[in-house]
Amino acid sequence: MNAPAPSRPVGLLAELTHRCPLGCPYCSNPLDLDARETELPTATWQRVFSEAAGIGILQLHLSGGEPASRRDLAELVAHAAKLGLYTNLITSGVGLNRAAVTKLAEAGLDHVQLSIQDSQPQSADHIAGYKGAFARKVEVASLVTETGLPLTVNAVIHRANVRRAGAMVELAVRLGARRVEIAHTQYYGWGARNRGLLMPSREEAEAAIEEVERLKTTLAGTIVIDHVAPDYHARYPKPCMSGWARRTLNVTPAGKVLPCHAAELIPGLEFWNVTQHSLEEIWNNSPAFNAFRGDEWMREPCRSCARKSVDFGGCRCQAFMLTGEAREADPVCHLSPHHRIVEEILAEARGEAAEPGAYAYRRMRPLPRSRGERLQGEDLDISAE
Ligand code: SF4
Ligand code: FES
Repeated sequence: MNAPAPSRPVGLLAELTHRCPLGCPYCSNPLDLDARETELPTATWQRVFSEAAGIGILQLHLSGGEPASRRDLAELVAHAAKLGLYTNLITSGVGLNRAAVTKLAEAGLDHVQLSIQDSQPQSADHIAGYKGAFARKVEVASLVTETGLPLTVNAVIHRANVRRAGAMVELAVRLGARRVEIAHTQYYGWGARNRGLLMPSREEAEAAIEEVERLKTTLAGTIVIDHVAPDYHARYPKPCMSGWARRTLNVTPAGKVLPCHAAELIPGLEFWNVTQHSLEEIWNNSPAFNAFRGDEWMREPCRSCARKSVDFGGCRCQAFMLTGEAREADPVCHLSPHHRIVEEILAEARGEAAEPGAYAYRRMRPLPRSRGERLQGEDLDISAE
């Protein structure tokens, strides 16, 4: 099968590290997290950013884990800014302080995207698996806005906070955000592992969707609301990644280049590493990138479906996770012969929040204490004290 000629990429997600002080049970990072010793050094990241600019990439998303766990974060931002890349820091906020935020702004950072876990402090800390996280985030939001950096607040919706979707939008307004992203949980990585505890009931999800859509009207002019509806409850799947290997690349902390954050779960794909290939070679020729380009790989009903150029058959990773075959239509689609799998999952969803300690918290290694409990400051290695 010949893959069609690649389009031009516009965005690079750089997962600078998998280290993170929080333990959110919906995290889309893989269960097998990259250890600190395997992380790319500063000079390699800088070379990757230069190659990204060279192939026309415009937006650089600095993510993780917690990107502020890298001591060289400001140095990396400065290099990207010099190249003219638009730099977006995706952060938990925990570990950033006034000096760090100022340093990042001076380095040329363009935008901060700050996650919140809930509008209620106690629940937010429980979901994050980190005591005091909520208070730290409120403080960091104010440091970001004082510095003059544009702030977006991100909230992931699931069973424990679904009734407060609107309250989280209102919190984002109070925090001074210009934009808020309300995204229902996508079930990859740790999110897939905790799916049974995270999935809200259909009624709860629908009430949250309605509330956020209503706020889009009432808060127009105050804050921009990006709403990512829960795909398990939709008739058609999301156009995941705007189509496989069409717009973006993900680079893991150890330098593996993926077409999407979850691609490693699909068996048999060959990923190339930035330590052995240039970004341009990877984009054009990596077997993993060419695996699902175009529509030659599609099975029915996608192959002859009018929507295949709209949603690209949905998500390859979700198709694999739910059916065992990545070339199938995403079973979220009501036309998929496997759609009953999604209906069965939804039928099992109950409207009860997880008990403290019930989540499998995202973590690098087992902790020698009771489940779910984390100490403040653990795993933290912040750049600019
Ligand atoms: Fe999309 Fe395939 Fe469903 Fe058509 S059949 S709507 S292309 S997932
Ligand atoms: Fe991999 Fe959707 S997350 S294609």
